[in-house]
Amino acid sequence: MIVSGSASQGLAAALAAELGEDLARVEFDRFPDGEQIVSVPPTDGRVVVVGSTVSDATHVELLLLQDAVREAGADHVVTVIPYLGYARQDQAFAAGHPVSARAVARAISTGTDEVLTVNPHERGVLDYFEVDAAAAVDASRCLATPLPDDLVDPVFLGPDASAESLAGRVRDAYGSGAVDHFEKTRLSGSEVEIAPSDADVAGRDVVVVDDIVATGSTMSEAITHLADPASVRVACVHPLLASNARLKLGDAGVTEIIGTDTIERPVSRVSAAPVIADVLA
Ligand code: R5P
Repeated sequence: MIVSGSASQGLAAALAAELGEDLARVEFDRFPDGEQIVSVPPTDGRVVVVGSTVSDATHVELLLLQDAVREAGADHVVTVIPYLGYARQDQAFAAGHPVSARAVARAISTGTDEVLTVNPHERGVLDYFEVDAAAAVDASRCLATPLPDDLVDPVFLGPDASAESLAGRVRDAYGSGAVDHFEKTRLSGSEVEIAPSDADVAGRDVVVVDDIVATGSTMSEAITHLADPASVRVACVHPLLASNARLKLGDAGVTEIIGTDTIERPVSRVSAAPVIADVLA
């Protein structure tokens, strides 16, 4: 049985279809004091709980779902976290700070036998889970699917060095094009400094690829350094698109944003369900 969190209903349905398993009818409610309550149907055997932790409320909801499926009869719980919130806080950044990714991983670990996530910002966060198995799948190749077949001399760019391999995997899935990256320095939570890539993009179709677009600062800053591209598209696994990110990207000249459904947004053009199902089947 597949049990969905409120923020992952589309992906959970796609996963249930891929695996040929039942999708549970989950009820989400709140008590008058604001506390959440969930309800799941009776079950047994392996249960897959699917919930992106896109907010503090969905973190709590995931913990409640894990406990509910145990109460309902599950004897093996697999927790799929398509987008793992707090994963970018993978270390204490200053004295007195927590290792937030570790704190949430420990909490999630208490209710599950296994954890599966998608393109965590740092793979090292998997070590923070105290479970039998914690793994990650790569959904980046899905991002090539919605791209037009006739991109002109395409260039796939990562906004920083660590995203170049991601850009390369999208290029490989697309079938042609160059790969390069910008140099990025983060100045604050919402400000970055980007040095231009050496790639000559004049007259070419550019796809800038990253694991996540959050505030859009990284992408929009990178795009300002592109000299006369024919077009600019943004592709990301996790289209968080917080605050005015879409406006920033539009202002920077982005013609299309492509994301997966690890975070369900209007730009979630492709599903990560097939790559998750490959591991769970
Ligand atoms: C950081 O290294 C990540 O790969 C992303 O580039 C970053 O998290 C995006 O954040 P934002 O959209 O807020 O610049």
